[in-house]
Formats: sequence, C-alpha cells, structure tokens
Amino acid sequence: MALQWRATTWGGPESWELAEVEVPPPASGEVTIRVRAAGMNPADYKHVASERPGVVLPVAIGYEVSGELTAIGPDTVIGSGPASVGDEVLAFRVQGGYATELTVPAEKVFAKPADLSHPEAANLLLAGTTAAEMLEVTGVGRGETVLLHGGSGAVGVAVLQLAARRGARVIATASPASFDRVRAYGGVPVAYGPGLRARVEDAAGGAPVDAALDAVGTDEALEVSQELVGDRDRIVTIAAADRADERGIRWIAGSLPASAAYRDAVRAELIALAGEGALIVPVAATYPLRDMREALRVLAAGHPGGKLALVP
Ligand SMILES: NC(=O)c1ccc[n+]([C@@H]2O[C@H](COP(=O)([O-])OP(=O)(O)OC[C@H]3O[C@@H](n4cnc5c(N)ncnc54)[C@H](OP(=O)(O)O)[C@@H]3O)[C@@H](O)[C@H]2O)c1
Repeated sequence: MALQWRATTWGGPESWELAEVEVPPPASGEVTIRVRAAGMNPADYKHVASERPGVVLPVAIGYEVSGELTAIGPDTVIGSGPASVGDEVLAFRVQGGYATELTVPAEKVFAKPADLSHPEAANLLLAGTTAAEMLEVTGVGRGETVLLHGGSGAVGVAVLQLAARRGARVIATASPASFDRVRAYGGVPVAYGPGLRARVEDAAGGAPVDAALDAVGTDEALEVSQELVGDRDRIVTIAAADRADERGIRWIAGSLPASAAYRDAVRAELIALAGEGALIVPVAATYPLRDMREALRVLAAGHPGGKLALVP
C-alpha cells in the first residue's frame, strides 16, 4: 500500500485526501517508483480547482517525481534505456506524484543524474520543458533581446538559462527582492508594475525587443508585450489561456498535442544539461508529504523563491 494525495471534489487542497492506495505491480511497459521527492507546480492545484471536461474524480495529484525503481514490468526499458531495480530515476509527466510509491508508464521515466538531488530532479522537467518550448515557438536566437515576464519564477529561471545558451539577452520582470536571482541566471531585472514599458525600454538601451515570453499572465504583461513586440507570433503566454486568442498571441500548454510532443522530445536534452550543471533547478524548500497544504499555500501566494518539493 502507498499514501497518495487525491482530490475527491473540485476545489482547493483543503478538500484533498491523503488516501491509502494499492500500487499495482507494473505490467509490460510500466515501472514502480518509490518516491523520494515530488515536484510541485501551480498546475497541481489549478487543474482541480474547478470541474474540467473529461476529467473524472478522484484525481491523483502531482506531475513529476524523483525516486528509486522498486519494480520493472516484463520486457521493459525506461525512457533513457535499460534499468534495474534500485536505480535512481525521475519521471514526468505522471499522474499522482504526491505519493509514497506509484506505478507509471516506463517511457516517462529517465535515469536521474547522480549530481542532482531528488528535490531538484523532481522539479526539472515541467518547468524546464515549458521554458524550452517558449523559446522554440518564438524562435529566439543569437543577439536578440527578449522580454520575460516572471523571470524569478520556476519557469523564468529555466528560460533565463536556456536563452543564454541561445545567445539571447533577456530583460526579466521580478519583484526587487528577486533581482539577485534574476541576475544570477544572466537576466537583466526590471520591476513589474506601473511604468513597466519605460523600464523595459530603458533596460533595452534602444535595441528593439524581438520577442516576449509571459510566465505571469497579468494584463500588464500582455499589454507591454504587445506594445514592444510588433510580430504577434513572437509573443507567447503560458499563463493567460483565456486572453491569448483575443489578443492574437501564442498560448502553449502541456495538454496541447504539439506542446506535448515538443516537450517529450526535449526531456533527454534537459536532463543531460542538468546533469552537467548547465541547467540549475533552484529549490527553495522541501516539506514532508503530509504538509502538502502548507507547501501549496506558499506556492499559491505567488513568490515561492524557487521550487518546492514534497518528501515522503
Ligand atoms: N501553460 C503551461 O504549459 C505552463 C507550464 C508551467 C507553468 N505555467 C504557469 O506559469 C506560471 C508561472 O509558473 P511557475 O512555476 O514559474 O511559478 P512560480 O515559480 O510560482 O513563479 C511565479 C512568478 O510570478 C511572479 N509574480 C508574482 N506576482 C506577479 C505580478 N503581479 N506581476 C508579475 N509577476 C508576478 C513572481 O515574481 P516575484 O516572486 O519576483 O515577485 C514569480 O517569479 C503559473 O501561472 C503556472 O500555472 C504554465
């Protein structure tokens, strides 16, 4: 038996249950993982906040984990190749990662780089693959100037690091308390809030802003992006699904087939970068699995200061 957080009604984490569940033995193409850390993302609570078409309760919470293999289905290899019981792995995108143990499709599981802690590995891929896709769909390239909304957040710091590898300069919004984190990952910080456009133009020093990447979703972020970037195809949001169409800008999400395909394809590259120390996952805090609600309160307040993980 395992413990697993589940939403049994639509709504916030106060109504979720820590259920005792059977862990099915892995069939061919599946593996079982003992969870050492569950990554936490805003999607974990947003996706069960209200009823979603096609989704049936109870919903097991959590899209990414890191841990050890406890069982491997017959004739099964994982996403990174052959594996043995006891190997350290990370897995994304799974369902029900806020758990002590779970059985998942083997193709979503990869060998964990030895130098990555479990909380880091458990938080690498949701934010990392999103960041990579934001840069890809907007075609960010060498010598360009990019505006990033939410530069100090989980997706933001991944964008900063991957944009630097593409040779782009990033002007990134954050609150002043987060400026040092933005600078540490190579960004030029500017404060969000009234007067944002002028501050971005000032930071750009007369250079055009070639693309805008929004990881915040405020009207301010969308408006300043549209004022500074003429080509709507070079503006992407991950946090304003409800307003992207009317504004004629891009919206991407892991639930969209094209996004899922890109994100799956880039997983191995990001794991390799993280293993070399070339893609850092800053972890702000870990919490016992039972303290899920406290951790989600910090995450939902909007300024977690790095990634959070649940540790069984
Ligand atoms: N569509 C997708 O595929 C996808 C994937 C991943 C995430 N997301 C969404 O993207 C967003 C960011 O996710 P995350 O994991 O990076 O979150 P996070 O780590 O919690 O970061 C939140 C960021 O928002 C900033 N922020 C807070 N209030 C703000 C405001 N009023 N104006 C501007 N910035 C503000 C914070 O900056 P300071 O702390 O410096 O104030 C922080 O950098 C969430 O809405 C999440 O649901 C979407």
